Amino acid sequence: MSRPKLIVGNWKMFTTRQSAVELAKAVAAGLKPGSTTRVGVAVPGPWITSVVEAVAGTPVEVGGQNCHFEKEGAFTGETSAGMLKDAGCSFVVIGHSERRHGFGEGDELLNKKLKAALAVDLPVIFCVGELLAEREATQTEAVLDRQLTHGLAGLTAEQLARVVIAYEPVWAIGTGKVATTEQAQAAHAFIRGKVAAIFGENAAAKLLIQYGGSVKADNAAALLHQPDIDGALVGGASLKADSFLAIVHADG
Ligand code: PGA
Repeated sequence: MSRPKLIVGNWKMFTTRQSAVELAKAVAAGLKPGSTTRVGVAVPGPWITSVVEAVAGTPVEVGGQNCHFEKEGAFTGETSAGMLKDAGCSFVVIGHSERRHGFGEGDELLNKKLKAALAVDLPVIFCVGELLAEREATQTEAVLDRQLTHGLAGLTAEQLARVVIAYEPVWAIGTGKVATTEQAQAAHAFIRGKVAAIFGENAAAKLLIQYGGSVKADNAAALLHQPDIDGALVGGASLKADSFLAIVHADG
C-alpha cells in the first residue's frame, strides 16, 4: 500500500517569535507544488498563533510539542489538547524522548495524553524509541513492545487512524549518530507488526511511521526509501529552511 510521506520539524525550545515566523514562511515558500509529501512544524507554544497565521493558506501543518491530559483545571503552566486545537494546531507530539527521559513521562501518563488529544480530535505524533543501553542489551523490541502496548492501550482502530508513530532511537537524537537504514527499517517493521497484532492488518498498513534522530539532507533519502519508513521527525536540521526543505524534497 502506498502511504504519503510526512516530514515534521520539531523546533523544541528554539526560535524567537520573529525567527519562527520567518522560518515557517520560508518552509511554506519552498514547498514543491503538487507534492504528495505532507509537511508540518511542531513549534514552541507561545508562537503557535503567529506561525499558524504565517502559513495560513499553505499546506504547512502546525503542531504543539506536548499537552496535558486533562481538559482544563488548576494545572499551572500546562496546556490542554483543546487549547492547542483552538490555537490552530492540527497535531500534537506526545512522548518525545525529551519528555520521557527529561521530564519522567511514563507509558501510562502518555496514554492519558494521547487519549486527551484524540478526545478533541487532535491528531497525534506518538514517539517511541530505546535508549543506547537498551539497544546494547538487545532490548530494543521489548522496549518498543512495552511503549506501544501501554501507550496505545484502549484506543480503537478508528482512533489509531489519527495517530502517527515516530520511531526515535534515543541515542540518535541530537547526537549526529543516525541509525543505519537496516536498524531503522527493522524497528519500523517491528512496530508495524505490533500495531497489526493489536489493531489488525488494515490499520497497520495505513499507519504512518516516521523515523527521527539526526535526520539530515544527506541521509534522508536512504531512510525514506525503506519500505516501512513513511517520513521523518527532524530536530536540529529543521531550524533552517534550507536544510529542512532538502529533507522534504529528499524523496523526489
Ligand atoms: P534531531 O532531533 O534531528 O536533532 O536528532 C530529532 C528529534 O528530537 O525529534
